[in-house]
Formats: sequence, structure tokens, C-alpha cells
Amino acid sequence: MGSGIAHVVALGGYDVAINDVAKERFDTALAAITKNMSRQVSSGKISEEDRDKALSRISFAETFQDFSDVDLVVEAATEDETVKRKIFVAVCPFLKPDAVLATNTSSISITRLAATTDRPERFIGMHFMNPVPVMELVEMIRGIATDDVTFTRAKDFVDTLDKTIAVSEDFPAFMVNRILLPMINEAVYTLYEGVGSVDAIDTAMRLGAHHPMGPLQLADFIGLDTCLSIMQVLYEGLADSKYRPCPLLVKYVEAGWLGRKTKRGFYDYR
Ligand code: CAA
Repeated sequence: MGSGIAHVVALGGYDVAINDVAKERFDTALAAITKNMSRQVSSGKISEEDRDKALSRISFAETFQDFSDVDLVVEAATEDETVKRKIFVAVCPFLKPDAVLATNTSSISITRLAATTDRPERFIGMHFMNPVPVMELVEMIRGIATDDVTFTRAKDFVDTLDKTIAVSEDFPAFMVNRILLPMINEAVYTLYEGVGSVDAIDTAMRLGAHHPMGPLQLADFIGLDTCLSIMQVLYEGLADSKYRPCPLLVKYVEAGWLGRKTKRGFYDYR
């Protein structure tokens, strides 16, 4: 999702510095951004000049020291609280005092994440949807300490990206994933209980409910590890058995079948 966020922010006219665990990951991200922007050129959504200018605004940040001048950091690491906490602890000492720190978490408490930083009042949830260049929504979530100035700055920034904001309270998985993930989990139960095949379940929801993708195809697209993490956050955070992750979803994740990114999930992409 980080590359999708960089894509829309660069097209919005901002300089973007991307940090990742290795330079190769940045190279892969830049190749994906170039390919996706070129698709937008082909379909007439942007001009070649827009693409080239946006690409020239994207650079690699080798260390967090490269963030010493930025106004906004958007963390988009894997959906794992420990990983996110480590990043916040590492990045905060390099940031300007008034820099806003945002997280693209899909489910984890903004208040709890904010408490690990040196700036809970300038910390906010800014949750983009995948694929970021196509999906119009950004969920915005304030932690208990987020101040009004930060909320307004973050909101004004998202407005310039031509996205629509839905404001959510800080509850497990916010709004989109609170509704979407139990639907996907139920689709996995439907498969687990032998009610229908992968194809039948996805066809049923595509043609019967007019969803652009079937729920199992969407799960592969999101990543089954991310789906499981979100269900666990819902199950633990809301303490209701209706959010119990389907054992089949757990088994696929244990097998390393994480969907498109590992070339195997409910579908085989090899
Ligand atoms: N970057 C830029 N453009 C992209 C793109 C990308 N990564 N992916 C697709 N597109 C564009 C295509 O270029 C195409 O543009 P044109 O109409 O101008 O030609 C358009 O999107 C449609 O793409 P395709 O024709 O390739 O395929 P499609 O019609 O099947 O649409 C889809 C693909 C947009 C992904 C569609 O299947 C869809 O909307 N799926 C559901 C996605 C969804 O539910 N996302 C939310 C996931 S949940 C989430 O993100 C929250 C979370 O925290 C887990």
C-alpha cells in the first residue's frame, strides 16, 4: 500500500521520500508506480507530463534522518503492532517537532499506537484503500489525544489528493474493515463448511451482490495474513465470538499461502 500512497501523493504535487527495509523494495515500488501511472496515461486520466513530473518527485530515503525536513510521515508497514511500534520509536527522534505522524493501519488502535510516540497529539489514522490510485475513500481516525490542528492539517492534505474522507471513531478495524472482513471471513467459513467451491462463492457474490471481486479473490488481493490480523484485532478487541477467524484462514496463513503476493491463496497464481 505504501507504493499506492506514494503514487497518489506524488501526483498530488508533493515530494515523496520512501523508506523501506531494503533498497530493492524501493526499486520494486517505483517500477509498480511507473507501470500504474502509465496505465493512467493510456486511459487518458493523466498526461505523460503529469506522470513524468510525479515520478521525478519520488526519491529513496535510505535512513530516517532523511525525514528531518518533512511535514508528514505516513507509516504503511505490515499490519503488526510490534513492527509499527519499532518504526515509530526509530523515526520520532528525527522529525521536526510539528511534523504530523500518520498510520495507514487497517485495524489497530490509533490511541495505543500514538502512545508509543513522542507526539500523541500530532498522531492520526489515515487509512487508504487498495488499490490506492483507484479507490476514492480515506478513513480518518483520531486517537484520544489527537488535537484539532492535526486533524485539520491531515484532512486538508487528503482533500488535495482528490479523495473522499469518512471519519471513524477509534474502534477495532474502524468502519470499512469492521464490515468488510467479517464478510470475507464468512466466505471462508462457507468454503470450509463445503457450502460452495471457491468459484461458486466468488461468482455468487460478484453476480448476486454486484461486488467487483468475489470475497475470496478480494482476500487474496488484500493478503490472507492481513485478513487474519484484522480478524484477530476484531476478535480480541470486541470480545465477541462472531469475529472468530475461520480455522481455514488460519491454516492458509500457517502454510504461507498469503494470496497474490506469495502466488498462492484461495487461487493459484503460479
Ligand atoms: N493503479 C492505478 N490504476 C489501477 C490500479 C493500480 N494499482 N489497479 C487498477 N487500476 C485501474 C485500471 O487501470 C483501470 O483503469 P481504467 O478504467 O481507466 O482502464 C481500472 O482501475 C479498472 O482496472 P481493471 O480493468 O484492470 O480491472 P477491474 O475492472 O477488475 O478493477 C479493481 C480492478 C479496481 C481492483 C476492482 O476489481 C475492485 O474495485 N475491486 C475491489 C477492491 C476493493 O474492495 N478494495 C478495498 C480492499 S479493502 C482495503 O483496502 C482496506 C484494508 O485495509 C484491507
